[in-house]
Amino acid sequence: MHTLQTKNLHKRPIGVFDSGIGGLTVARALYELLPNEDIIYLGDSARLPYGTKSKETVILYSIECLKFLLSKKVKMVVVACNTASSVAVPFLQKITKVPVIGVLIPGSEAAVNKTKNNKVGIIGTRGTVNSGAYKNQIHRINKSVKVYSQACSLFVQLAEDGWTDNKIAELTAKEYLSDIKQEGIDTMILGCTHYPILKKTIRKVIGNKINLIDSGEETAKEVKLILSGKKLLNTQKRKGEHKYFVTDFPNNFHQIAERFLGTKIKNIKLAKLH
Ligand code: DGL
Repeated sequence: MHTLQTKNLHKRPIGVFDSGIGGLTVARALYELLPNEDIIYLGDSARLPYGTKSKETVILYSIECLKFLLSKKVKMVVVACNTASSVAVPFLQKITKVPVIGVLIPGSEAAVNKTKNNKVGIIGTRGTVNSGAYKNQIHRINKSVKVYSQACSLFVQLAEDGWTDNKIAELTAKEYLSDIKQEGIDTMILGCTHYPILKKTIRKVIGNKINLIDSGEETAKEVKLILSGKKLLNTQKRKGEHKYFVTDFPNNFHQIAERFLGTKIKNIKLAKLH
C-alpha cells in the first residue's frame, strides 16, 4: 500500500493557498514554469485580508488552509500569501511531512544574490513588514545586507480595483516609496501577492536602476527545484489541470481573478474550511 502511494506520488496535484485572489500571481508563475502539473488553488477570500490581522490569527487560518489542501491529497503545499509565509510556515511544516514552502525564502535568496551594494528594500503588508521575517531571512543568508522595509497597505485595494496605472496609483506609490528609494537600495522585493499587478507604476516611481524581485516567480523556480530533487515532477504529457476553491465569492470575483491570472478562470468551487 505504502509503496503504491509513493510510486504515484508525482501524479498528485500541487496545493497553493492564499488569503484570497492575489495568490493567483503566484499560481500564474507556477503554470508558466510547470505547465504539466495539476494545481489546486485555495483562496481564503471570506477572511481576506490577512495583512492586517494578528500573527496568531494568520497562523490559525493558515493551518485550516493547509488541512484543506492535505485533504485533497496534494504532494506539496505552496504558501502564496506573503503574510502567511512570514509568520506561519514553520508551524505548517510541523503538521505534515508533505513539503511546505512559502514565498519568503526564495524571494530573500533572489534579493541577496541580486544586490551589488548590499542594500535591499522590502515592501509588503503591515503584517509582513511588522513580522520582520524578510529582514531576518535576509540576515540569515548574509548579515551584511542592510534591509529597509515599507508597508504599502493601499496597494492591495488598488490592485483589486484595477487602479494599477492611474494618477492615484502613482501618487500612492510616490508617497510610500520615496523614503526607501532615498536609502540608495539597488534591489527591492515585491513582498505581497498583489504588487506584481502594480509593477509598471512601481517601476515608474522608483526608476530603472533598482532590481525588482517578484517573490512569486522566485517561488515557482524553487518549487520546480524541490519537486525535481524529490523526483516528484509530474511526467504526464497533457497540460496540468487547475482547480480553484474559495471560501467566499466576493463581488467582481471573476473580473479580479482574471486580472491577476491573465486568463479566464473556470472550475471554481466554494470550500468549507471547518
Ligand atoms: N496575500 C497577502 C500577502 O501577500 C495580501 C492580501 C492580504 O492582506 O491578505 O501578503
